[in-house]
Amino acid sequence: MWKPIQVCPRMRFKYTIFFVVVVALVIIEKENNIISRVSDKLTPRQTPQTPLQATIIASVAVPKQNDSRSSLSKPDPGFRHMKRRLENFTEQAEPERLSSWGKKHILLLATTRTGSSFVGEFFNQQGDNMFYLFEPLWHVERSLTLETGGTNATAAGPAYRDVLQGLFLCDFTPLEDFIEPAPVDHVTPSLFRRESSSSLCEEPVCSPVVKGVFERYRCRTRRCGPLNLTLASESCRQKEHRAIKSVRVRQLETLRPLAEDPRLDVKFIQLVRDPRAVLASRMVAFSAKYKNWKRWAVDGEVPVDDDEVRKLKGNCDNIRLSAEVGLKQPEWLRDRYMLVRYEDIARFPMRKATEMYQFAGIPFTSKVKEWILKNTQASKEVSGVYSTQKNSSEQVEKWRFSIPFKLAQVVQKVCGPTMKLFGYKFAESKEMLTDKSISLIAEKNFS
Ligand SMILES: *[C@@H]1O[C@H](CO)[C@@H](O)[C@H](O)[C@H]1NC(C)=O
Ligand SMILES: *[C@@H]1O[C@H](CO)[C@@H](O)[C@H](O)[C@H]1NC(C)=O
Ligand SMILES: *[C@@H]1O[C@H](CO)[C@@H](O)[C@H](O)[C@H]1NC(C)=O
Ligand SMILES: *[C@@H]1O[C@H](CO)[C@@H](O)[C@H](O)[C@H]1NC(C)=O
Ligand SMILES: *[C@@H]1O[C@H](CO)[C@@H](O)[C@H](O)[C@H]1NC(C)=O
Repeated sequence: MWKPIQVCPRMRFKYTIFFVVVVALVIIEKENNIISRVSDKLTPRQTPQTPLQATIIASVAVPKQNDSRSSLSKPDPGFRHMKRRLENFTEQAEPERLSSWGKKHILLLATTRTGSSFVGEFFNQQGDNMFYLFEPLWHVERSLTLETGGTNATAAGPAYRDVLQGLFLCDFTPLEDFIEPAPVDHVTPSLFRRESSSSLCEEPVCSPVVKGVFERYRCRTRRCGPLNLTLASESCRQKEHRAIKSVRVRQLETLRPLAEDPRLDVKFIQLVRDPRAVLASRMVAFSAKYKNWKRWAVDGEVPVDDDEVRKLKGNCDNIRLSAEVGLKQPEWLRDRYMLVRYEDIARFPMRKATEMYQFAGIPFTSKVKEWILKNTQASKEVSGVYSTQKNSSEQVEKWRFSIPFKLAQVVQKVCGPTMKLFGYKFAESKEMLTDKSISLIAEKNFS
């Protein structure tokens, strides 16, 4: 006959002691994890992909110390559950991490005349949840150029990276070092193209203009006082997502620390455009800087060993190298890189915008949709060289009629590998260049 085992009071006492010891060990283990998590923050050894993953990696990883307690982190479902509950508990004790939960950081990388202002608007128009900055690195480039008499890519890379990192964390101080004249008490009247960031033109960042003070700035439809960066930073912290557009970063690789920063969840969107179209557009927009090209367009001869041609090749190579890194999807970039062609955005703006938002993991609001509808089908009334309000489908092919075949050939020669990678077809003749029935864009899917 089977009889239930009687647990005498002594035994019960022993079980209680045993239970208390187990709980104590669990707590010790937990503390151990918190310490290792903090040290992970200081020197990230692993590559967390998202804040969530960062938390998991840091807490489930085998403790660095090789001691007896490490055996406790061997996975047992019940134990893992308890651990997760403790995790939830300590999560609440970490306001910084909690507040960055689900936040996205979008970096739109491009070069000039690739439609980046237009694509930047996709994010600028998102709504109240987005903190958008337009070309903050302008200050860094200018300052370094004044200092060294030319942009030195080697020196600029780390500066760009640090400023971007600060801005994604809503810290303007690294940027302030490059603003001239230097901000006084974190207030500046001279932030480049402030009016291009809705976030810097709304209350309370748009501080009221003080009567009698003549410093007032056009900010979209209103006037604001000088920009108080402390206020901008506070507003940034309150927004769920942050987006920055920049045409200045040369190599995606230099931004690796941003991807690996456990406080950030960065998504890189690289925007590219047919280099022949870019050249045609730059010759109009930067006519003084491109005067050699304009002369060659008339002469019909291009000295291929000219510095300008070498510069064009250098630009194309940089764009291609960045894209090659991105498309290879190394571990540090996994799910963080997207390549978009300007031509696809111009032809299918809504579809591409939806894809970009999906990739970024943020809600595609009706406000953005409206903006896109309004700005891709516009009539010709308003259009300057910087205007984004154009019939975008029509714009895509315009360059074919403005660039001489000779120049297109030079671009095809020095930017050949870049064009092939992105699916831009060579024009074999003057006739082919201007024959609209022949598409120069191969349909290509980069994901
Ligand atoms: C942990 O300790 C064991 C036994 O002392 C040893 O064999 C092992 O190499 C150690 N592991 C590490 C990562 O130090
Ligand atoms: C952790 O917290 C979330 C949200 O409060 C909850 O849904 C989840 O069940 C919790 N996990 C555990 C293991 O308690
Ligand atoms: C560019 O900067 C790097 C690092 O600061 C320096 O070593 C190099 O000499 C600079 N090159 C030029 C051309 O100034
Ligand atoms: C800028 O804003 C901060 C935060 O509201 C405020 O404390 C500071 O006085 C402002 N600075 C100036 C110069 O108005
Ligand atoms: C824009 O241009 C394209 C191509 O020329 C044309 O098919 C389309 O009807 C135009 N859309 C508007 C709204 O003008």
